[in-house]
Amino acid sequence: MAIASWLRWLLVAVAALLVLAAMMLGRRSQQLHPMVVVPGYATNELDARLTELYRPSSPRCKKTGWFRLYLNNTALEDPSDVRCFAEQMSTVYDPLSDDYYNARGVETSVPFFGSTQGLRYPDPDRKDFSYMDKFVSRLERIGYHDGKNLFGAPYDFRYAVAPVGHRSRVGLAFFRRLKRLVEKASRLNGGRPVTIVAHSFGGPLAYQFLLRRPLSWRKRFVRRFVPVAAPWGGVVTVMLALNSGNNLALPFVDPLALKAEYRSLESSVWLLPSPKVFPAAQPLVATKSRNYSAHDMADFLGAIGLREAIRPYRTRALPLFSELPSPQVPVACVVGVGRDTLERMVYPGDDFSVAPTMVMGDGDGLVNLASLVAVDPAWRRSRAGASAHFKMVKVSNVSHTDLLVEDCALDILIDAIQRPN
Ligand SMILES: *[C@@H]1O[C@H](CO)[C@@H](O)[C@H](O)[C@H]1NC(C)=O
Ligand SMILES: *[C@@H]1O[C@H](CO)[C@@H](O)[C@H](O)[C@H]1NC(C)=O
Ligand SMILES: *[C@@H]1O[C@H](CO)[C@@H](O)[C@H](O)[C@H]1NC(C)=O
Repeated sequence: MAIASWLRWLLVAVAALLVLAAMMLGRRSQQLHPMVVVPGYATNELDARLTELYRPSSPRCKKTGWFRLYLNNTALEDPSDVRCFAEQMSTVYDPLSDDYYNARGVETSVPFFGSTQGLRYPDPDRKDFSYMDKFVSRLERIGYHDGKNLFGAPYDFRYAVAPVGHRSRVGLAFFRRLKRLVEKASRLNGGRPVTIVAHSFGGPLAYQFLLRRPLSWRKRFVRRFVPVAAPWGGVVTVMLALNSGNNLALPFVDPLALKAEYRSLESSVWLLPSPKVFPAAQPLVATKSRNYSAHDMADFLGAIGLREAIRPYRTRALPLFSELPSPQVPVACVVGVGRDTLERMVYPGDDFSVAPTMVMGDGDGLVNLASLVAVDPAWRRSRAGASAHFKMVKVSNVSHTDLLVEDCALDILIDAIQRPN
C-alpha cells in the first residue's frame, strides 16, 4: 500500500516535470522573434512559361506549361540548351517607358513566396549545390518553423528597383509583397517585431525596401536588420563579368554563353562599384591608355560595348547608393574578411577581349572589403546622438557563401541574430 502510493506520487511528479519542460520549450520558441530571410543573388527558384509571342532561336528552346527556369542543372549540361536558358533569362531595358521587361513571350514567377522552401536549394534536384540549406536547418534547430515564425522572401534577382520617380514594376511588386510578409510574420507571432536577415545582394535590396517604409512602420515591425556579406558599394568582379560573362558559379557552363544575358539585367548594373565607396584615385580597371575608377563607370560601359546600359546606370543605379543613410533600425552586419578578392584588372593593351592580370585585395572572396564595411561608422551615429544599435561583425578567413555554411561562422551569425538589443 505504502509502495503503491509512493509510486503514484513519483508518477505525478514525473508528469508535472514533463509538462513544465514542454511549457519551457514552448515558451522558448514563442520567445524567438519572427524572422524573414531575404536570399542573395541567384539563390531562389524562378519559374517560367513561354507564350505564343515567344520566338525561340531554335526549336529545342520551345516548352509548354510552367517549368523551372532557374535552376535546373540538367537543362544546362548541353551547351545548346544553355542558349535557350540565356534567351529566356534575358531582360530588356526600354528607354521609352524607363523600365526593364522579360524577353518577349517569356512569363516568369517566383514560387514559394513566404516560405524558405524555394531558397534552400536553387535546384531541388541537385541538393549538393546549396549554401542556404545549412543556415535554414540551423534556424530550425533553435526553434524556428517555416510558416510559423520563419519566412522566406525569394524574388526575381534579375531585377532591382530604381529611385522614386522611375518605373520598377517588378522590384516594387516585390517590396509590396515583402511589406505584407513582414506584417504577417509579426501578426502571427503576437505582434512581435521581425528580424530581417538578408544575404549578399538581398542586403542592399532589403535596405532600399526599409528606406521606403515610413520610420513609424520600421520602428513598429523591424526588431533588427541583419545584412550578411552585403555589398553597399558594388563589387569589382561585376566589371569583369560584364566584360567576360558570368556562369552563375556553374562549372560546366561557359561564362561567355551567358554574357549577353548577364549584360541585359538590371541587377548587374546595380552591383557596379560605386563612387561613394571606391575613390577616384583607385583604378579598378587599367588598360594601356586609360584607367577606370568607380568614377569612370559610364566610360567603362562604353569601352566594353555596353552603351545601352549607361543611361540606366546613371539614372537608376548610381543615385541609389550615392548616399547611405542609416535605416534607423537596430543593425548587425556580418561580413567575411581576409580572403583574396578581385580588386583590379590590368589589361596588357587596350583590347578587352584579352585576359587581364588580376590584382587581389581584401574581402570575402567576392565582395571587396571597402564595400562590405561602407556603412561603418556612418550607421553607428544616430541622428539624436543616442545609441544606434549598430554592430559590424567581421569573421576572418570566411568566404561570401561559407558565412552561411561553416559552423563557427554560423555560431557568430546566430549570436548576431539573437542577441538582445
Ligand atoms: C530539367 O531539365 C531536364 C532536361 O531538359 C528535364 O528533363 C526536366 O524535366 C527538368 N526538370 C524540371 C523540374 O523542370
Ligand atoms: C593608371 O594607374 C596606375 C596606378 O595608379 C599608374 O601607374 C598608370 O600610369 C595609370 N595609367 C594611365 C594610362 O593613366
Ligand atoms: C583560411 O581558410 C582556408 C580554408 O578555408 C585554409 O586553407 C587557410 O589555411 C586559412 N588561412 C588562415 C590564415 O587561417
